[in-house]
Amino acid sequence: MTNCRLCNNKLLLINNFGEMPIANAFQNKVNNAQFTFNLQTGFCNKCFMFQLIDQPPPEKMFHQDYAFSTRSSMFMIKHFQNVAKMIKTNFISDPDDNVLEIGCNDGVMLEQIQKYGVKNIGVEPSANVAEKSQEIGLEIINDFFSEELALNMKNNSNYFKVIYASNVICHLPDLNDLCKGITKILKKDGIFIFEEPYLASIIKKNSFDQIYDEHVYFYCILSLNNLFQNYNLEIFDSEEIWTHGGSMRYFVSFKGKYPKTERFRNSLHKEVKLKLDREETYLNFNKNCEKIKYDINQTLADLKNKNNEIVGYGATSKSTTFINYCDIGKYINFISDTSHSKINKFTPLSNIPIKDYSSFQESCHSFTILFAWNHMKEIFKKETEYFDNGGNWIVYVPEVKIISKEEIE
Ligand code: TYD
Repeated sequence: MTNCRLCNNKLLLINNFGEMPIANAFQNKVNNAQFTFNLQTGFCNKCFMFQLIDQPPPEKMFHQDYAFSTRSSMFMIKHFQNVAKMIKTNFISDPDDNVLEIGCNDGVMLEQIQKYGVKNIGVEPSANVAEKSQEIGLEIINDFFSEELALNMKNNSNYFKVIYASNVICHLPDLNDLCKGITKILKKDGIFIFEEPYLASIIKKNSFDQIYDEHVYFYCILSLNNLFQNYNLEIFDSEEIWTHGGSMRYFVSFKGKYPKTERFRNSLHKEVKLKLDREETYLNFNKNCEKIKYDINQTLADLKNKNNEIVGYGATSKSTTFINYCDIGKYINFISDTSHSKINKFTPLSNIPIKDYSSFQESCHSFTILFAWNHMKEIFKKETEYFDNGGNWIVYVPEVKIISKEEIE
């Protein structure tokens, strides 16, 4: 596909990351046969949407073995509890006001909403995490959100004051279907809140590892405005947040329902200044990706030549793009991760063993690549002992750099 998924305009090819597996397809054995596809991005200079050119079928990505669990980070648990508080405080005023979460994962946010006594429903396509939500007493529809599903809800008289989604809307290939679904079940004064990795942040930080099979779109206000105007919807507020290495939370309502906020206007102004509506920005971004690939190879080859042990921290989905595009699997002994579903498996295509956290603590390695860089604050706080023992971190966002203890003091 070479045309824009939204407006059908011809896309400009930006990145070609090459053959890529499913980012979360951690393997049970080495050299397992696995699905791959060509990971490429394109920019539409008509509606400004930056997007994947090809995306694998959804059932290859979201299924019984889906490896992502919100509860793997204490900071993320706190984050979703705060989201629930924000929704309750700002938008729930009537006992009839209810909340729908699209892609509720293991239910951290809804659990808190439930504690506040607010009516709620979750939609979650991955059965394993949907079950976890059900186990804690939440009402979950185990399905993909679609206009058809929304119509079923509407037939059961389910209208929502708040529809919330976190890191989900960028996964949905058919945004027109999403918007049709939202308009069916959002109350007249309802608010659709969603938060996604922010394109401005990806461009500024060169964090191209955010680009993988699940993320079909990379949003900013400029492109979303073009989409929503077709559905009588509009963004009236926006809030930059720290999750996923830099995200934007968008507040959407039916046109004219709420005044546009100052911070919304500021963000829009910044996007124009950053030229997120210009081809040159994306071509330059691709050059930066190529430089990072070159730099990380130089750095790791040099460290290996000096007989250093190199490991990784956090078998993130993001790391799949980084490791395979940069072709650095050969340098890394193992990746430490705390998620049970990933431990003792191997990274997709690059075959790096994933070990539990105790392996990281016990092994003797002086260099660790921080793949979970979006949790840098939490991890550096936790790993002071590693620094004290002479350990060094290798980061690659926004550029390749070795961080030793002195540098963060
Ligand atoms: P995540 O932030 O979800 O990134 P992505 O969306 O790219 O997968 O993944 C973080 C991963 O890092 C997850 O597998 C858990 C792991 N992790 C640790 O091993 N230790 C930690 O201290 C933290 C915060 C995360």
